[in-house]
Amino acid sequence: MQSSYRIALIPGDGIGPELIDSAVTVLSAAARAHDLNVRTDREPGGAGSYLEIGHALPPGTLDRLRTEYDAVLKGPVGLPGVRHQDGTEAGLLGGVLRGGLDTFANVRPIRLLPGVDAAVRFSPGEIDYVIVRENTEGLYLSRGAGVANRWAASDQLMVTREGCERVIRFAFETARTRGGAPADGVRRVTCVDKSNVLRSFAFFRGVFDEIATEYPDVAADHRYSDAAAHDLVAAPGGFDVLVTENFLGDLLSDLGAGTVGGLGMCGSANIGADAAYFEPIHGSAPDIAGQDRANPTSQILAAAMLLDHLGELGAGNAVRDAVHAAYAAGVIRLNPAGQPEAGTAAATRAITAHL
Ligand code: NAD
Ligand code: IPM
Ligand code: MN
Repeated sequence: MQSSYRIALIPGDGIGPELIDSAVTVLSAAARAHDLNVRTDREPGGAGSYLEIGHALPPGTLDRLRTEYDAVLKGPVGLPGVRHQDGTEAGLLGGVLRGGLDTFANVRPIRLLPGVDAAVRFSPGEIDYVIVRENTEGLYLSRGAGVANRWAASDQLMVTREGCERVIRFAFETARTRGGAPADGVRRVTCVDKSNVLRSFAFFRGVFDEIATEYPDVAADHRYSDAAAHDLVAAPGGFDVLVTENFLGDLLSDLGAGTVGGLGMCGSANIGADAAYFEPIHGSAPDIAGQDRANPTSQILAAAMLLDHLGELGAGNAVRDAVHAAYAAGVIRLNPAGQPEAGTAAATRAITAHL
């Protein structure tokens, strides 16, 4: 029997709608090739929605996402000019969706593909790791809850035992599904923290060391976050899976993208116990929106992760293979800014052609 899925699309702001169009083109081709019935429905959300109705996510959407859909494919949201009185952005959905759906693990694969002329000189296969970013607490638990007056401002970083345990277990389980670090083939989880200075990070590391004993088949490693930033650029081959606090994971994943051809190369999954959504790691890139310049690869790889999550591994792998083939053949070439030289639509066609 043909498998049927209902997917919510949140096109979002800036380059979001063009990226979602690209991903839907690829998703439809993969569905045809693998005999899947995929129905997509668009849901508003982001800065545009905030400007229109006063809510970044219209009331009722969160419940519908949870109950009526099998998964959510989200474009980037937010516009720097759309802000609350307190100075933070009003069009973002990170707090609403990650907290609302309790998607505690933010999975961000960083992989150098053949044919990509990256800023850092490594060969394809030498950079291939996954950042597992804690997604519901850490410094970003303070979203909307910071305090400030004319003289001072404060946001608190909090981690909980349950929050640490579940994301750290997720990281070790992820390592079990992979072939180890490129440099030595060893399955390894690296705990990235600043436990030399801050109690919250010492707590995170303590929980990591406890959980690591449950996984004797996976090497447990530590790196302070400043040194990790260095090693991600200078010696990325030693990394397999990294697990880290929310804010550090946010920073280090964009850094990782900078080593593999830019932000437009990296998709991500937000995974919870009973909900998941998929998006690029980057933002809405208002500087290039509507100009057919954005790299759609991030959104397409996010769609591949969505297929994996639905259990459609054949279709997910086919999408990843098509992306690899299009780059390896030199059909997609990126300029130094990480934009496909022939444009977003042409890059999408190049990938679809391999499906
Ligand atoms: P950004 O990631 O949107 O852009 C940073 C730089 O990378 C820009 O030069 C942009 O042109 C480039 N870039 C990003 N994606 C690209 C792609 N696919 N192809 C080619 N180039 C790409 O970050 P920003 O400018 O700091 O933020 C813009 C907006 O996005 C802000 O409102 C921010 O809050 C929001 N944001 C949203 C998300 C999300 O929805 N998950 C993530 C990050 C930032
Ligand atoms: C990301 C983004 C978001 C985050 C912001 C824009 C809400 O930077 O998904 O990486 O870090 O939470
Ligand atoms: Mn980010």
